[in-house]
Amino acid sequence: MKTHEITLEALDVDQFAVDQVAAIQAAAGDAVAISALSGGVDSAVVTLLAHRALGSQLRTYFIENGLMREGEAKQIVAWFADLGVDVEVVDASDKFLAALEGVSDPEEKREKGITQVFYKDVFAELVQASGATVLFQGTNFTDVEETAAGIKRQHNVFEQIGIDPEKAFGYKVFEPILQLRKPGIRAVARALGLPPEVSERPPFPGPALAARVIGEVTAERVETVRKATVVVEEELADSGAFQYLAILHKDLVTGIRDGKRDFGQQIEVRCWESTDAVTATPTELDFATLRKIADRIVAEVPGIVSVTYNICTKPSSCIEAV
Ligand code: XMP
Repeated sequence: MKTHEITLEALDVDQFAVDQVAAIQAAAGDAVAISALSGGVDSAVVTLLAHRALGSQLRTYFIENGLMREGEAKQIVAWFADLGVDVEVVDASDKFLAALEGVSDPEEKREKGITQVFYKDVFAELVQASGATVLFQGTNFTDVEETAAGIKRQHNVFEQIGIDPEKAFGYKVFEPILQLRKPGIRAVARALGLPPEVSERPPFPGPALAARVIGEVTAERVETVRKATVVVEEELADSGAFQYLAILHKDLVTGIRDGKRDFGQQIEVRCWESTDAVTATPTELDFATLRKIADRIVAEVPGIVSVTYNICTKPSSCIEAV
């Protein structure tokens, strides 16, 4: 790996912002540039740096891929409007869901269903239409490390695994926070004046809810995990945990509903303590909280008859399921 890490201890947030603003200006030149905003703290930091560097030369796009959480696009547009950044929402749900049809293998899901559609299809079109030459995105040090180690093909890592984005997709990709891990990125976010809802936001994966559907990703199965995610996020918002999520399993189990046998679906809840997502331990949630989550999921999410809690550490588990 060529990139070296800037640790939290070594990071001077103000200098980092100054350096990256200059690097962004150099990468864009006089041309239009694009920021790929997902709404997480990583791409939020990149978008603000790029906005600072390029002003009206920058286009910021949020891709609605049909795999996002409830109300996500609206929320992000509102947050960034308050910061003076115009975000354009591009609805590409049909393209993603079509590419994911019939795909169950985790790496194939990431590669065919997410990476290819995102970069080759959706962004290539946006780049061409806008005349941009460079795309800014929030790849971080952990993304690169895990992809290079062959653990998981993160959707946004190319050069470090021998892919030249310019050749593969027709545009340059520039990654201003490539040397930082989460704690460093949050420190830069605070220094840039991002509101706490964004700077302290728990991580969310690039492949979105597709990373939390085991087996085939269909609109209906995404909706199931989306509803369960609402419950988990509401109940654990004050937990102080690093990340918490719901996963939809593929196997059905025998359950009972209205006094009758119901061969139904299962949701797995995960809640993690971690600083950088490289290693993680399950949060010791109290039993009443777990019970409340289970009761709400079974009541509010159609088709779910069983709820489990993951008590394994990372490793051997990963934070996400796919
Ligand atoms: P895992 O599941 O590998 O997740 O233990 C580690 C951290 O990375 C997030 N994650 C991703 N982030 N693109 C991203 O930008 C991805 O493809 C991706 N996959 C996982 C995950 O939510 C966790 O915080």
